[in-house]
Amino acid sequence: MAIRKILTQGDPVLNKVCHPVTKFDDKLADLLDDLRETLDSAKGVGLAAPQVGILRRAVIVVPNPEIDEMVELVNPEILAQEGEEDGLEGCLSIPGMWGYVKRPTWVKVRAQDRHGNWFEMEGADLAARCFCHELEHLDGHMYDEHVDRLYTSEEMDAILSEEQEPEEENSSRKHARRRVGRRRG
Ligand code: NI
Repeated sequence: MAIRKILTQGDPVLNKVCHPVTKFDDKLADLLDDLRETLDSAKGVGLAAPQVGILRRAVIVVPNPEIDEMVELVNPEILAQEGEEDGLEGCLSIPGMWGYVKRPTWVKVRAQDRHGNWFEMEGADLAARCFCHELEHLDGHMYDEHVDRLYTSEEMDAILSEEQEPEEENSSRKHARRRVGRRRG
């Protein structure tokens, strides 16, 4: 396993359409292992193969950051979606920036695992957002295409600290909510 370099915006690879994975071999397993290690090291909630320069349809997602379990999706596609919600997003390929993006509140995804077996998964709220964010990387798109403007981390700190929160809420819970609220894929 190895930590791979995450490409940043401006690299033309990030705007290319990825090819389907057709071989479920050791090379794919190595890629998925490296994506896991790279995502873990970057402390993100999702990472797509093109972000490390590989134009194949494979992503890693962390649907629930509280559990912190990584899910591998090969050749993923969205089968169904419902609702719409504006929420905060960041991307490991656009470091230090954040933006509000409208995403479905629920999605059903179909994908293959590293052995080629098809499975379906549903995700609501933050998980749905994570699926949508990662899957669009595979078609060369990034979240900043959907935002009115991007905010720096300092601007986000100011916005989030101004948000009214219940007084009884203790500081560690507030902290956890902010951490979950500010996700990067
Ligand atoms: Ni991203």
